[in-house]
Amino acid sequence: MSTDPSHLISKRAASRSALHFTNIPSSGAPKGFKPHPKPLALSYGMPNHGFFPIDSIDVNLVERPFQTTTATSSLPQVDKLSLTGSENGQQTKTPPSSLNTLPSVHISRHTDDPKLIDLARGLQYANVEGHAPLLQFTKNFITRTHKPNYEDWTTLISNGASDGLNKAADALLDPGDVVLVEEFTFSPFLRFSGNAGAIAVPVKIDLSNDSDGIDYDALVQQLDNWEKDHPDLPKPKALYTIATGQNPTGFTQSLEFRKKVYALAVKHDFAIIEDDPYGYLTLPKYRKPTVGEPKVDEITIDDYLENDLTPSYLEIDTTGRVVRIETFSKLFAPGLRLGFVVGHTKVITAIKNYSEVVNRGASGLTQTIVNNVIQDNFNGVDGWLEWILKMRLNYSYRKDLLLYSIFESEAYKKGYVDIIDPKAGMFVTLKVNLPENVNVVEKMKLLLFKLISVGVLVVPGYNMTVDLEFSKDRSNFFRLCYAPANNDDEILESGKRLTQGVYEFFENGLEF
Ligand SMILES: Cc1ncc(COP(=O)(O)O)c(C=O)c1O
Repeated sequence: MSTDPSHLISKRAASRSALHFTNIPSSGAPKGFKPHPKPLALSYGMPNHGFFPIDSIDVNLVERPFQTTTATSSLPQVDKLSLTGSENGQQTKTPPSSLNTLPSVHISRHTDDPKLIDLARGLQYANVEGHAPLLQFTKNFITRTHKPNYEDWTTLISNGASDGLNKAADALLDPGDVVLVEEFTFSPFLRFSGNAGAIAVPVKIDLSNDSDGIDYDALVQQLDNWEKDHPDLPKPKALYTIATGQNPTGFTQSLEFRKKVYALAVKHDFAIIEDDPYGYLTLPKYRKPTVGEPKVDEITIDDYLENDLTPSYLEIDTTGRVVRIETFSKLFAPGLRLGFVVGHTKVITAIKNYSEVVNRGASGLTQTIVNNVIQDNFNGVDGWLEWILKMRLNYSYRKDLLLYSIFESEAYKKGYVDIIDPKAGMFVTLKVNLPENVNVVEKMKLLLFKLISVGVLVVPGYNMTVDLEFSKDRSNFFRLCYAPANNDDEILESGKRLTQGVYEFFENGLEF
C-alpha cells in the first residue's frame, strides 16, 4: 500500500507555494553560470546579530517539580493522611541554602556546538519549520518514543498544540469536508476545523469504566451507513482523536483498539489527527496513597517506553495518513507556546506553507531556551524522559490523592458518583449517577451551581460536546483536573467539597 497521502491534502493547502522573494533563481541560468562560493548578502532584511541587545541568558532550573515553589498549604490538614515530608508530593522544599547549587544553563551569543542554538541564530529570522537543533531533537525523541512505521516522515515546530491542530486542519480539510470528532472533546479543535470550513460530526464515546474511549461498534456503524444516514455530507476526510488521556474523559485507547480504528481509516480512506498533549504522563492504576510507601513502582526509561507508554497511531501507520500533534505545554510550560507536528513529509510541507502565511513559525527565543535546556541540562532525549518520569510520579500521586478523597466520601459510598481511573494525563471523570428519565443537562447545570457554592470548580461534560443534542444523555459527568492545585491539601479538600456538594444535592432530591 502506498505511503503517499497526497490525496488527503486539502485543495487549499495543495495550491499554496512558498517562494521567498530573496530566493536565488532555480532555473533559466545562462550557459556557463557558476554561483560565487562565498557571496555577500545585500538581500535579506536580517539585522546583524550585533544589533541584538541581549548578549547572553542564564536559565536557572530545578531538579524536580515543586523543588523551590513557595506554594504552601493554607488549608487544614485532612486527618486521614499525614502529608508532610512526602517524597512525591509537593511539601518537600529545597532549603534556601542549597538553591545556589541548582543547575543552570548559559545561553551565549555564539556556540560551535551543533546541538545548541546560540543567540545569534535564536534571535534571528529562521526557517519556519524551526531551528535545526530542535528539529533534530524532535526527530530523535519521536524515534525513541513513537517511531513511525515508514521512512518518509518529518517534524515541524509549532506554536503549541493549538497551532499544530489549526495547521493540520488546514492541511487536510477543505470547506464542506467532514471531520469526525469524539463527542466530548477539546472544543477549540472545533474552531480550527471550522476555520478550514469543515463540518465536525461527533463520534460516540463509550463511557463505561474500562472503555477505550471511542465506541468502536458505533463508529463502524456510522461509517458503514454513512451514505444512507448522511445523504447530504461527503464521507469523512479525517478523524480527530485525543487517543491517550482523552480530554475531557481521561480514556486511553489500547494498541489493539488503535489497530482496529486504523484499519477503518484505511478502509474508508480518512486521515487521523492524533492530538497527544498528555500521553507521556502515564498513570498506574489507583493505589491508596500512604505516606512512607513509594507512590508508584520505580520504572526505568526502557520499561516505561516498552510497557507503559501507549504506542502512537504513527507506529501502525503504513499509509502516511496520521498526523501527530505534540506540545511542550504540559511537560515544560504552556507560556512557551511551543510544540511540534509529526507526519508524512507531504503533509508537513503543506503545513509549512501555511506557517509561511499565518505566523512564520515559533518564537526563536522559545526554541532556543527549550532546546538548550534539554540538551545542556538534560543531555538530550533520555534526560528529558527522566524529567517526564518525575512529572509522571507527581501526577500519579495527585491523581491517587483526588481519587482517595472521593472513594472515602459518603457520596461515593452511597453510589451517587462513580470514577473513571485514567491511564494517562490530567483528567478524572466523575460520573454522576442520575436516575433515568431526568433531564441530564438541566440537573448537571443545577449541580454545577451547587458545587460552585460549596467552593469547587469543575468542567461539566456538556460544555465540551461537539453537538449537545447528540450527547445530552451521556453528559452526566464532570471533568476534574488535578494539575492546577497548589498542594496536596488542596486536592484532598477539593475532593471533599465536591463529594459533599453531590451528597447534599442527592439528599435534597436532586435540588440545589
Ligand atoms: C487535547 C488538547 N489539545 C491541545 C491543547 C492545547 O495545547 P497548547 O497549549 O500546546 O496549545 C490542550 C490544552 O489543554 C488539550 O487539552
